[in-house]
Amino acid sequence: MPQTPARIWVSRDATALSLGAEPVAAAIAAEAGRRGVEIEIVRHGTRGMCWLEPLVEVEAVGRRIGYGPVVAADVAGLFDAGFLSGGSHARLVGPIEAVPYFAKQERLTFERVGFTNPQSLDEYLAHGGYQGLQRALAIGPAAIVQEVTDSGLRGRGGAAFPTGIKWKTVLDAPADRKFVTCNADEGDSGTFADRMLMEGDPFTLVEGMTIAAVAVGATQGYIYLRVEYPHAHHALLAAIGTAYERGYLGANVLASGKPFDLEVRLGAGAYICGEETSMLESLEGKRGEVRPRPPLPAVKGLFGRPTIVNNVISLASVPIILRKGSAFYRDFGMGKSRGTLTIQLGGNIKRGGLIEKAFGATVREILYDYGGGSASGRPIRAVQIGGPLGAYLPESQFDTPLDYEAFTEIGALLGHGGIVAFDDTVDMAYMARYAMEFCALESCGKCTPCRIGSTRGVEVIDRVVQGVNRGPNLALLDDLCDTLLNGSLCGLGGLTPYPVQSALKYFPDDFLKA
Ligand SMILES: Cc1cc2nc3c(=O)[nH]c(=O)nc-3n(C[C@H](O)[C@H](O)[C@H](O)COP(=O)(O)O)c2cc1C
Ligand code: SF4
Repeated sequence: MPQTPARIWVSRDATALSLGAEPVAAAIAAEAGRRGVEIEIVRHGTRGMCWLEPLVEVEAVGRRIGYGPVVAADVAGLFDAGFLSGGSHARLVGPIEAVPYFAKQERLTFERVGFTNPQSLDEYLAHGGYQGLQRALAIGPAAIVQEVTDSGLRGRGGAAFPTGIKWKTVLDAPADRKFVTCNADEGDSGTFADRMLMEGDPFTLVEGMTIAAVAVGATQGYIYLRVEYPHAHHALLAAIGTAYERGYLGANVLASGKPFDLEVRLGAGAYICGEETSMLESLEGKRGEVRPRPPLPAVKGLFGRPTIVNNVISLASVPIILRKGSAFYRDFGMGKSRGTLTIQLGGNIKRGGLIEKAFGATVREILYDYGGGSASGRPIRAVQIGGPLGAYLPESQFDTPLDYEAFTEIGALLGHGGIVAFDDTVDMAYMARYAMEFCALESCGKCTPCRIGSTRGVEVIDRVVQGVNRGPNLALLDDLCDTLLNGSLCGLGGLTPYPVQSALKYFPDDFLKA
């Protein structure tokens, strides 16, 4: 017999909503009303198994049983099949945490996403929430920074810089005010981990930022949120409001005597605003242009004050590090890549979604064991990893482990962990041109190699593909990439050669068709 009222979970994550979760939830409520069945529908984050969305979960025999993907027209049939007790139906997935895609993961940062109600602070507290902050307040700034350093956590926004070292710089910088900023601009193609975390467990980010503030003595925090994320915005505002009401934010955080205020600022809608110094300019109300470094933001950041700039996943990983200790976290991973990576699998893939795993799984494992191969059923010919500035890798590199150093060795980058798959119909010359054009379109215009070089680069690729003076134009393209790599002020111009040159290196025939 189902419990009364029966609890049903339907995700409110943007992916689930885009696939029709709202009409499904409405149909379940209406059908239950018609049948006089008492139910409670909980709107939670997603489990990250996007191909199963809209996924409906019910609690039966002490486990969450999943049905998916469900459409509104299935709902009456689900009731007929006794789905509230886990009854058999064509959409039955089974115990959701036993699905291999989910069961084989190591969920640390995402431990509550898709499980708890993201709006409920009480559920957050009941599942380990705010224990990290409690410990942080007990051990004090230097010990917090040491703990984060010892965990081996490196920035998940792309550059993989050790988080503890960044925090130590801010801690040691004398100033009248310090800031904690969260980079939630998530501009990389094929990435969505930040969004899923903010929608599915916003208190984790709020707690992580509060711990960061306590660690360095910051009193004000800002979340710089991608403007196209209205659902994350809503979730963050609700969580921040509750945290203020319950004393987890404000003038006296948990009666510790320490103040910390937190606000959300909507991004300006440009890729370059995700670059940390551009983000700071944008936060200050200016046009998002890159600042020359030094000074580092950790020394002279927002409004000229020492500032932590960290990615959502970096900050959201801190609560579990403080709660369970640095040794627990450091135990996951390989080499200098410690902890877990939130891999986002997309493109031409059968089972796209979010996979949190210790560093070290191979690209092939992710593409086939998790992804199930291409959606088209054709061979996967290439992947782009690390967003629009990441290298294109051929099948011969699929055994590379997901590890920062292993990727550097093959001239690639892990970035924010997005993997986009392409089947054998892809034209890699077109993809190389696309990468160069992306740089031209998104360039902030501050430095010449990127502003001018990317536009010239598109023209040169066009000439190569058209067979016009191919040899000299290929040499020119090589030279141009070298200038971009070494002469750009930031990673947009500096990394664009990665996709362009990897396409040329691994897929040369695609450039020789004319
Ligand atoms: C062109 C460009 C775009 C970037 N976009 C983002 C972004 O959307 N989100 C992000 O966290 N980091 C982004 N970064 C990296 C940031 O500059 C910075 O390294 C990061 O926010 C630091 O946080 P972390 O140490 O926690 O990774 C971008 C970098 C470049 C060069
Ligand atoms: S590399 Fe491009 S985006 Fe970066 S500072 Fe130079 S012009 Fe701006």
